[in-house]
Amino acid sequence: MQLVFATHNTHKLKEVQTMLPKQIRLLSLDAIGCHEEIPETGKTLEENAKIKALHVAKTYGYPCFADDTGLLVNALNGAPGVFSARYAGNHKDTDANIRKLLFELETKKDRSARFETVIALVLQGETHVFKGAVSGTIILEKKGTAGFGYDPVFVPKGYDRTFAELPLQVKNAISHRARATEKLVHFLSTLNLS
Ligand code: IMP
Repeated sequence: MQLVFATHNTHKLKEVQTMLPKQIRLLSLDAIGCHEEIPETGKTLEENAKIKALHVAKTYGYPCFADDTGLLVNALNGAPGVFSARYAGNHKDTDANIRKLLFELETKKDRSARFETVIALVLQGETHVFKGAVSGTIILEKKGTAGFGYDPVFVPKGYDRTFAELPLQVKNAISHRARATEKLVHFLSTLNLS
């Protein structure tokens, strides 16, 4: 079975590909000739995931899933949340996003946060939603070079290294996206796929 993951992010594609059963061939947006940036106009992670998955399923005719992820920081009342990608502006600059986050937290004692991922799957005309989260702490400065996004400043609970310092296998075992993907994989495994 061919399934599109509605992302241009090769890091995400690699993370998810390793978790899927072998009979599912994961296709990226580029692989199906979709080079557009699908607008994330929803007010919640769930709305954005659904918008992206439905757009691809309708326009390109493939079963498709899309994810949307946010970093929710408690001392910032859940910000950047659904605006995580554009926290420091529409240019989606990761370094600028991290700088802004560290600046906003400079005076805060509570540095607890969590990543949340929502996956929307559009299959045979129906939409299914899967969610995952991981709690942790925002550290004072960037550490590590692996991963992407806010990984260099996020230390998951129970660990003393950031997601950017931990091996990908560890991130893949405990991350927000891994937890949501596990639910997606479990659902797919209950279907009779060929
Ligand atoms: P999106 O879900 O790809 O739109 O991501 C929203 C924002 O969260 C972007 O700034 C990403 O870089 C960031 N992000 C998404 N997933 C992760 C992750 O696994 N680790 C760190 N940052 C992430």
